[in-house]
Amino acid sequence: MSDAAQLHMIDILRKKRDGAALDAREIAFVAAGAADGSIPADQLAAWLMAAWIRGLSLDEIRALTVAMRDSGEKFDEEFWGARLGKRAVDKHSTGGVGDKTSFLVAPLAAACGVAVPMISGRALGHTGGTLDKLEAIPGYRTALTLAEFEEVIAKCGASIIGQTDQLAPADRALYALRDRTGTVESPGLICASILSKKLAAGLDGLVLDVKTGSGAFLRQREDAEHLAALMVATAEAAGTRTVALLTDMGQPLGRAAGNFIELAECVELLRGERPAYSGDLRELSLILAGFMIHLGGKAETPDAGYRLAEAAVADGSALAVFFKMIDAQGGDVAVFDDPAAFHKPGATAVVEAWESGFVAEMDTTALGWAVQRTGAGREKAGEPVDAHAGILFHAKRGARVERGEPLATIYATTAERLVEPEEILRKAIRIANGPPVPVDLIADVFTRETAEELLAARGGV
Ligand code: URA
Repeated sequence: MSDAAQLHMIDILRKKRDGAALDAREIAFVAAGAADGSIPADQLAAWLMAAWIRGLSLDEIRALTVAMRDSGEKFDEEFWGARLGKRAVDKHSTGGVGDKTSFLVAPLAAACGVAVPMISGRALGHTGGTLDKLEAIPGYRTALTLAEFEEVIAKCGASIIGQTDQLAPADRALYALRDRTGTVESPGLICASILSKKLAAGLDGLVLDVKTGSGAFLRQREDAEHLAALMVATAEAAGTRTVALLTDMGQPLGRAAGNFIELAECVELLRGERPAYSGDLRELSLILAGFMIHLGGKAETPDAGYRLAEAAVADGSALAVFFKMIDAQGGDVAVFDDPAAFHKPGATAVVEAWESGFVAEMDTTALGWAVQRTGAGREKAGEPVDAHAGILFHAKRGARVERGEPLATIYATTAERLVEPEEILRKAIRIANGPPVPVDLIADVFTRETAEELLAARGGV
C-alpha cells in the first residue's frame, strides 16, 4: 500500500477548511485522486472552494504544480537533452488580443538551436487561442500523440499542439470543476494549472509573457506582477529556469486579431517585411525569443539571443522552420503563397475615423469581444470558429488620423455579424486632440531573485 493510500480526503478537507496548510503528500493525494477519478467531484469541488477561500501557501502551490505535472504522461527533464542534444524551452502568455507571438518565437528559437515543445490552448473569454488560429491552415493537426509530437520536434525543432488527455490529467479534472464552481480566479490554482501543463513537456527553460493593461485578464499592474512572481518562483522551485516579462496589452498586439489574418501577419514578419502597426509584435517576439535562446544555452545574454533571432529572420531560417513544422503537422503551407487569395471572409466592412485627432485609448478587452463576435471566436464551448473572421487595425494608440480615414477592417462570417463588432469598435477606440502618453512595451522582467523579493515584500502569496 502506498503512503498516499493511507490518507483520507475528508481529513484533508477539514484541515484546509480550518485554514491549516497541507503537506506535499496530502496535496499529491488530491492531485492523484483528481487524475484517476478516485476522489469524487463533490469532495474535489469542496477542496477547490476551501483552497480559494483560505488561499494556498507558496509550498502548497509548488507541491500542487509538481503533483499535477506528474499526474499523467510527461517528458522528463533530461528527455530532450538525451534525445536531441538540445535544451527545451517554451513560452507561455497569459492571453491577449492579437497575441500571436507563439508563431514567431517557436520558429525563431528553433532556428537558433533550441527545442520548442509548445503546448497551447484555445480561445478563452475575449482572448484568442493559438490552436484555433493554427487550425485556420487547412489540414493542420493540433491533436498529436506525444510520440508524434516528439518526432515533429526532432525533425523541425518546434511543434505546437494542444493538451492531450494523457498530459496533466489532474488539471483537466480540476479545471472543469473550477469553471463550474466559481474557483477559477485564484492565483495559486491558476499558477499550478498553467505550469503543470507546460512543465509536463520536460522543459529546461520557460519564458512567461504576463500581460497587463486594458486587454489583459489581470488589468492591474500589481495583480499581474504578483502572478508573474508566483509563476517564476514556483517553476524555478520545480527545477525549470524561468523568467517572466510583464508586457503591455493596452492595445491589440500587431495589426491583426482573428485567425488566419494573424498567421498571415506572422509570415510577413518572418519574411522580413515590416507592415505598419506590426512593430510592437515584431519587437516583443524578438525579445521573448532572445530570452528563450538564452535559456536554451545558445546565447550568453538575452540581448545576444535577440540578435540571433533577428539573424534568423534575415536569413530565412525561422520561416523555413515554421513552414516545415506546418507541413509536418499536416498543414498546407501553399496558403501562404498568396495569403490574400486564400483569405475569403463572408462579409467585410471598413470602419472610418469619425473625427480627426489621435488614437488615444483602445479598450482592448472590448476589442477582443468584437473580434470574437465576427465569428473568429466561439459563444459556447466546442463551437467551430471561422478561419477568415477577425479585425485588421489600420491605426493604433498614438496614430494621427483624419476624419474618414480607415481605422479598421472587419471580416465577419456574415453581414449580420459585422454589426455588433462595429458598434463595439466605435465605443472602444477613443480619438482625442492630443497624443497619448507612450506606454512601455516591457514594463518589468522577473527572474528567480526578483520574483522572490517581490513575494517577500508583499508578505508571500
Ligand atoms: N489557463 C489555464 O490553463 N489555467 C488557468 O487556471 C487559467 C488560465
